[in-house]
Amino acid sequence: MATIIDGKAVAAKVRQEAAQQVKTLKENGIKTGLAVIIVGDDPASRVYVNNKKKDCEEIGIYSEEYALPEDTSQEELMALVESLNQRSDISGILCQLPLPRHLNEKMVLDAISPLKDVDAFHPSNVGKIMIGDYDFLPCTPAGVMEMLKEYEIEIEGKTCVVIGRSNIVGKPMSMLLLHKNGTVTTCHSRTKDLPGVTRQADILVAAIGKAKFVTADMVKDGAVVVDVGMNRLDGKLCGDVDYEAVAPKASFITPVPGGVGPMTRAILMKNTVKAAKLQNAVT
Ligand code: GUN
Repeated sequence: MATIIDGKAVAAKVRQEAAQQVKTLKENGIKTGLAVIIVGDDPASRVYVNNKKKDCEEIGIYSEEYALPEDTSQEELMALVESLNQRSDISGILCQLPLPRHLNEKMVLDAISPLKDVDAFHPSNVGKIMIGDYDFLPCTPAGVMEMLKEYEIEIEGKTCVVIGRSNIVGKPMSMLLLHKNGTVTTCHSRTKDLPGVTRQADILVAAIGKAKFVTADMVKDGAVVVDVGMNRLDGKLCGDVDYEAVAPKASFITPVPGGVGPMTRAILMKNTVKAAKLQNAVT
């Protein structure tokens, strides 16, 4: 039976370190602040934004929420981002995705100052990740790496398979595993013989967005299984991995809830602190 990777415990540690740094910055007259923009009333986004505000409060980060109506125009949103870019008390800017369909997401993400880009979605930050010289890492892949590190899971030389190629999770996840000298395959909806590929994985990361997609026959005995999924199944939160069936085969596994989710939230706090340091030339 697998060791269950306790994302809540690792996240608490990351938050504690961030809180300590917020305190030190404050003692040096530097305010750490996060602005969160949410457009429309998507219920999942609302939950995520509430959690982010709660995390800020807990660790002493000043936060501002901009809850804009569904019919907000591109110009209004761009003007808000521009004004937040100029503010010295706002270290980080996060625009909750997805945006309503009439808004151009790319334009908004490109407009956020790279120094305040706590999601690491700006093309210049994405490019920096590619060459391994980065300020910010996207929260979910960074959270996964932190968990692997905490549990002393070796990546070098391991066969790593990432299912999913999103800009937010799959692609950067593959890149971070590659930076740690894993041999990485990124799978997607057109991958031929997916179970044949995933069965090779020493480290398998599932970021598909389909409940219980990864079944026991897709997993090698002793694999490390990381579940990035957050799906609702019969009203219950459920990952991309069929946990009950896969856990007996795995050496380590992340649960849902209590695995990657808390880590994503904690890394956002870490990135906000990093942003405050960057803007104030603190190392
Ligand atoms: N929506 C779902 N995940 C995320 C995320 O990590 N950042 C932002 N900004 N929006 C999201």
